[in-house]
Amino acid sequence: MPIPEFETFLQKYPTYKQTTLIDDLRKKEYARLDRGEHIYLDYTGGGIYAESQIQKHQKLLHENVYGNPHSSNPTSFAATELVEGAREYVLKFFNADPNEYVAIFTSNASGALKLIGESYPFSSGRYLLTFDNHNSVNGIREFAHARGAEVTYIPVMLPDMRVDASQLNVELAKPSKSGHNLFAYPAQSNFSSVKHPLEWIEKAHAHGWDVLLDAAAFVPTTKLDLSKVKPDFVPISFYKIFGYPTGLGALIAKKSALAKLQRPWFAGGTITVASVQGDKYYLADGAAAFEDGTLDYLNIPAIEIGLKHIESIGYDAISERVKTLTGWLLDNLTQMKHSTGERLVRLFGPKTTEGRGGAVTVNFYDKNGKAFDHRFIESEANKVNISLRTGCFCNPGAGEIALGISRVELDVCFTSPDHHDKMTIDDFRLCIDGKSSGAVRISVGMVTNFNDVQAFLSFARGLLSQ
Ligand SMILES: Cc1ncc(COP(=O)(O)O)c(C=O)c1O
Repeated sequence: MPIPEFETFLQKYPTYKQTTLIDDLRKKEYARLDRGEHIYLDYTGGGIYAESQIQKHQKLLHENVYGNPHSSNPTSFAATELVEGAREYVLKFFNADPNEYVAIFTSNASGALKLIGESYPFSSGRYLLTFDNHNSVNGIREFAHARGAEVTYIPVMLPDMRVDASQLNVELAKPSKSGHNLFAYPAQSNFSSVKHPLEWIEKAHAHGWDVLLDAAAFVPTTKLDLSKVKPDFVPISFYKIFGYPTGLGALIAKKSALAKLQRPWFAGGTITVASVQGDKYYLADGAAAFEDGTLDYLNIPAIEIGLKHIESIGYDAISERVKTLTGWLLDNLTQMKHSTGERLVRLFGPKTTEGRGGAVTVNFYDKNGKAFDHRFIESEANKVNISLRTGCFCNPGAGEIALGISRVELDVCFTSPDHHDKMTIDDFRLCIDGKSSGAVRISVGMVTNFNDVQAFLSFARGLLSQ
């Protein structure tokens, strides 16, 4: 590490020093990152687990016998106790009052979102959502359309990719009077990393909307306090917060909002009684009504271990770490210029650390201002063991705005004579006249260090013409 640069970094971002506990932890718990010479910069894609999380979980499995929680035998009770303990811990972690909220275990954030989509009483109502949303939030519109709800998108604006607040206010003031109204947005964008205002929750409530706050990209680095903000539905994925286990997420939902949902079916575990000849069933109360079949009872205990690990580090240190390193990455990357004076990157999202998280999304340009294909950048990064993400990150609305792809162009693509054939990304690119169809996302996370960011900056410098 060139010492002078680290000194300059510390002068500009002195609070980084308050996060040195993470450097100690990285040596002890995440040594495999450096052993494998990994430059891991896809924390928005997935978090990295600490070795002690695995050890604690394995110990639990080594030492105990757990049975299917749907019974009332000793091993079943033992599993139930752990699952219910983890459920309570999830609520406690987010400071959610158990009289007000429930935590439903799902397979991931998308599973949580699908539960809402398939059960929300959309008929004659409205589904309002920001352009900036993950596809699993966009996908809910299909349920909304099918049940006759009006679907409205609120655009985000370049260069910062924040929402046009005046347009949002206009739409929020017009809920359907004859149906239910659902407003969905991400607390943090997985494209631009913008943190959209949590104040919208109260504003939307005041006009009678239910609020779906997609917190999947927010909670890995920022505290969500459900005693201060009260969204109705909060989907999350645990692997994004603490890396292990994958395959588990949660829908944290207000009891009052959950009561509005109408499940389209019943399954093992979700009912109190179901009869074949009587052709009737009664759904269980609370979370159980939404957890189909046997829960992942051997992995759910690892959630509590993971949450305790995060608490032992503390969100203050995590947020500060991510903020300072993102600041340095932004400062340096956006200043890089070719010999012709042409900038190396164009940034999609806020230029400063204010109101944003740790993902920096850009496209790279050559000395003549021609974009490098994002897949080329990924393959070059792969060669030096840098893990980053390219494409649209399952967020096509933000992508379309960032990349300047218009509604007219998209209409042409999706109505062309051969549009029924499955479109590949290359067909799509041709269709939008050779415009870039994706970007490069570099995301800093809990255990990123200065070296990781420097390694990426040095890779980026290598793309500059002399
Ligand atoms: C903001 C946001 N929402 C939802 C999801 C979906 O998460 P999962 O793929 O774990 O279901 C993601 C994943 O990247 C995300 O970033």
